[in-house]
Amino acid sequence: MKNFSAVLLKWYKSNKRALPFRDTHNPYLIWLSEIIFQQTRIAQGLAYYEKFAKRFPTPAALAAADEDEVLKLWQGLGYYSRARNLHAAAKSMNGVFPRTYEGVRALKGVGDYTAAAICSMAYQMPCAVVDGNVYRGLSRVFGIDTPIDSTGGKKEFTALAQKLLDKKHPGDYNQAIMDFGALICTPQAAQCATCPLTKTCVARRKNRVSALPVKAQKTKVSERFFHYIYVEQGPFVWLHKRGAGDIWQNLYELPLVETGKSGPLTKKPAWCGRAKLCAVGTPVKHVLSHRVIWAQLYKVILSPSAKIPPEFLRVKKSFLETYAVPRLVQKLLEKIL
Ligand code: ADE
Repeated sequence: MKNFSAVLLKWYKSNKRALPFRDTHNPYLIWLSEIIFQQTRIAQGLAYYEKFAKRFPTPAALAAADEDEVLKLWQGLGYYSRARNLHAAAKSMNGVFPRTYEGVRALKGVGDYTAAAICSMAYQMPCAVVDGNVYRGLSRVFGIDTPIDSTGGKKEFTALAQKLLDKKHPGDYNQAIMDFGALICTPQAAQCATCPLTKTCVARRKNRVSALPVKAQKTKVSERFFHYIYVEQGPFVWLHKRGAGDIWQNLYELPLVETGKSGPLTKKPAWCGRAKLCAVGTPVKHVLSHRVIWAQLYKVILSPSAKIPPEFLRVKKSFLETYAVPRLVQKLLEKIL
């Protein structure tokens, strides 16, 4: 398709979304926006981008921050490794954002997509992005059946994206194909009636729009069963800082007992002593990308003399909101506070 890129760019000029990171060539701000919008819809992430850009206007400002503060600002966005990597990468820069593709790609948390996005938008390097929008748009317009989650599929779509890239306007071209995927060639209910490529679209002609792109594997979803205990001890509440090797690393939560199956907690933790454990409400269902968490909340009131195990910290109830907690824990806390 000879004029694919020209049609797309022309469409972009009159239909592009007005986004704050499109008014800048500052690589640091573009990086910040790309990390935030990796697994987040634009509407959901915009306020976070504004908050981060204001609080941390430079790599040095971000590097100087405490990780707890970065996580607190990130609270609610999910995929918290993005925030930890963002902070670690800022610290590795010594105040200067890298200027080469290799330098950008070597930053913690930056993969092929993000490196191409930053280098094309900030430095006008001829690097095509390949994200979900690109897979969807290209598989439909060109009628490609190769599964997008296979090694062959990745190669094929990357090569095609690179071939189609407008080398004179790589930043605009990349954002054009992403806006096209977000506004026209959407996962469900694609807007074929207003699509600038509808005449040449193979999927449209063959009535295969909703069948493309093809994915070989279904995402496996596993279930976990959490029992969170709100421990009140005078003016204090107990918290736990999560460690490495599981979800929500370095975030705070209530004391947790995890069980292997559904149903109520049958055994009280030893540190409850003789205090009564009361269930609060019914289990809450919390959906993450690869798992479903069923969480039941309990409340226990301990005497001032009860000993706190070393894995927990005692915080004033009025300070609770200064700690970064997962959205699930926030939801549970709202039941009590
Ligand atoms: N999603 C992530 N980054 C984007 C960008 N620069 N333009 C459009 N959609 C995006």
